[in-house]
Amino acid sequence: MNRKGVAVLGSTGSIGTTALRVLGRQRERFRVAALTANKNDALLRQQAAEFAPSFVGMADLGNRGDDSWRRGTECLIEAATRDDVDIVVNAIVGAAGLDATLAGLESGKRVALANKETLVIAGDLVNEACARGSGELVPVDSEHSAILQCIAGHPRSQVRRVVLTASGGPFRGWSRERLAAATVKDALAHPTWSMGRKVTIDSATLANKALEVIEAHFLFGLPYDAISVVVHPQSVVHSFVEFIDGSVVAQLSVPSMELPVLYALTHPDRVEDTGAPAFDPVALSPLTYEPVNHELFPALGLGIAAGRAGGSAPAVFNAANEVAVAAFLGERISFPEIPRAISSALAKLSGLPGKTREELLGADASARRHVSETFKC
Ligand SMILES: NC(=O)c1ccc[n+]([C@@H]2O[C@H](COP(=O)([O-])OP(=O)(O)OC[C@H]3O[C@@H](n4cnc5c(N)ncnc54)[C@H](OP(=O)(O)O)[C@@H]3O)[C@@H](O)[C@H]2O)c1
Repeated sequence: MNRKGVAVLGSTGSIGTTALRVLGRQRERFRVAALTANKNDALLRQQAAEFAPSFVGMADLGNRGDDSWRRGTECLIEAATRDDVDIVVNAIVGAAGLDATLAGLESGKRVALANKETLVIAGDLVNEACARGSGELVPVDSEHSAILQCIAGHPRSQVRRVVLTASGGPFRGWSRERLAAATVKDALAHPTWSMGRKVTIDSATLANKALEVIEAHFLFGLPYDAISVVVHPQSVVHSFVEFIDGSVVAQLSVPSMELPVLYALTHPDRVEDTGAPAFDPVALSPLTYEPVNHELFPALGLGIAAGRAGGSAPAVFNAANEVAVAAFLGERISFPEIPRAISSALAKLSGLPGKTREELLGADASARRHVSETFKC
């Protein structure tokens, strides 16, 4: 079998290591051609020894690493555009993943996208890069993978709406008073998923679901009115798709990112794999649903409003959130200050121009500055 070459960008993170577990089981189909990380040279060295990629890169210049490794942020683009790479798994966290997605798509690769921030900052540019370079974008996020699997070849005109599920995070059911005193440890204790720190905090504020609504808008060409969110604490149903005849199709699995990662590599095919935990509907029952509490978790509404506003607003939302989350993780602001920081940045900056990459990155930089200065973090 002709093996496909895979670049894993952000290979040392939660999704990156999950992708390498999947690729380790699928060596007959895939060859790891490139690996990149930011700072974690010890883990990258281990991964390079195990998978023997032809390219290894570290985005951060201040690491030790190996003499043969490439250094600096350009290494992400190099990894994403190499001739021996067919599929780029973008598992970088935050805005740092944007240029690699664009470059991979422009050079005709399949980009298996975990880095949802890419689509939030520059969804139109990503879709244009896809069309120009004949690249292909396939989601890794479990909700979007579920939608892709449910739609299964039906034209967009037959989809009435989609419903993304949200676990509700660790603070589901908390009071406003308790939330005001929430600690980093509380926020990192996610009830159903084990993930990187930034996305775990995003799940606690529900900013993650806002990023996913915007992601769904760009991935599936759906208007915002056709995308809704329901809290589903068990995280077993990953999304619902309602068709125009009223039929609703859902995709289910025990929560594990191995399945959506594998599907992003093999779509539209399915291959034999042993990664997904056994599915037992009785053991997983009951499956429950409840509405989002927008008063306690305003980040979701703020993000959807930013998506609807378009232009630079989603980039401002994302950048303000990134700075506020880092400040919360560093214990410089409180949990409720995260949505306050986002709201303040959107009120001040969402009218900035936001068509080109430069304008969007300018809005991103202004939002970062605004939050750091206003919240002294
Ligand atoms: N984790 C999940 O289950 C999950 C599920 C769905 C979607 N996602 C999305 O997937 C993406 C990755 O999430 P994660 O949880 O895997 O994050 P993570 O565990 O924090 O890993 C992030 C990866 O990106 C690298 N990185 C960080 N900053 C970088 C920079 N400036 N330049 C280049 N590389 C950089 C890190 O390298 P070092 O280790 O060297 O710092 C690491 O390899 C996020 O967009 C997240 O929203 C995650």
